[in-house]
Amino acid sequence: MLVLGVESSCDETGVALYDSAQGLLADALYSQIAMHNEYGGVVPELASRDHIRRLLPLTRQVFAESGRTLADLDGIAFTQGPGLAGALLVGAGMARALAYSLNIPAVGVHHLEGHMLSPLISDTPPEFPFVALLVSGGHTQLMLVSGVGRYDLLGETLDDAAGEAFDKTAQLLGLGYPGGPALSKLAASGDATRFNLPRPMLNSGDFDFSFSGLKTAVLTLVRKEGLDHAADIAAAFQVAAVEVLVCKSLAACKQSGATRMVVAGGVGANTHLRAQLTGEADKRGITVFYPRMEFCTDNGAMIAYAGAQRLASKSSGAPAQPDLSFAVKPRWALATLEAV
Ligand code: KG4
Ligand code: ZN
Repeated sequence: MLVLGVESSCDETGVALYDSAQGLLADALYSQIAMHNEYGGVVPELASRDHIRRLLPLTRQVFAESGRTLADLDGIAFTQGPGLAGALLVGAGMARALAYSLNIPAVGVHHLEGHMLSPLISDTPPEFPFVALLVSGGHTQLMLVSGVGRYDLLGETLDDAAGEAFDKTAQLLGLGYPGGPALSKLAASGDATRFNLPRPMLNSGDFDFSFSGLKTAVLTLVRKEGLDHAADIAAAFQVAAVEVLVCKSLAACKQSGATRMVVAGGVGANTHLRAQLTGEADKRGITVFYPRMEFCTDNGAMIAYAGAQRLASKSSGAPAQPDLSFAVKPRWALATLEAV
């Protein structure tokens, strides 16, 4: 089954072709980061307009690269939510219209399901069940995953998401948007022991997180110290945030008895998190699976893959006749998805 995946939930336009027999055939991405950087964050209206400009050229690109044609397609998967309403509508409208013209099914994919299954786009994917740590710009969740669509929420952030904490801290340190990669680069040259920042909810006994207090602690520190020690502050922040993520993830594995874990979402690209988590998990006989580095952040491949799983299953609800409604779900709880 050949599936076209379309991602347009935020500031990246991603298109990919996934073949359930041959794997990922082509993957193209356009990042709007440079455009939004000028404003210090994503401007939704500009994001939507840019998705309109990029979507068809990227689609032509993946067909050209893979040597396939529109006639080879069996289905189209698009990000239906959560995300920016206008941005989502661009992908949904394009996917539904194309599917209708080809008389093939289109399926709306949950963006976080895409992230969570992205480590499965691999020659050696993890088997179910596993614990998933989802750490993106908008979400921080620990889930027990026992199959596609079988997600039990173990815990989540009560305020800022992990990526948001990286971004806001980076802003306090005078770094650009998105701040995560810049902060982690700066932290590499810093001394993480010069300052001691709080580890919020480390011992709360549950799997919830809170990152807004950590960000406030950085603000207080920056006011006191100025930016002379920005690299040391970045390192102290990264160590504190990562320690909480690693401890809670391992506790979730212990409680659920899982011996496999996946990490997904933008913060999963953080090398300190990867090193700490893999090191600590190894000691406990737990294997950690990560997506390819480029699939940590938003991309079309994860949407094509998740869509292929849903289209292949009888319970996907994909109608024989293409559906013309292209409603999107800017807010959509992952735990409400149907199992495949
Ligand atoms: O998953 P993603 O692309 O978008 C959402 O769906 O939210 O994640 C983007 C987030 C941003 O907050 C970004 O700063 C963070 O992931 N991020 C990182 C790194 N790379 C991206 N955070 C820490 N270290 C990184 N290397
Ligand atoms: Zn994302």
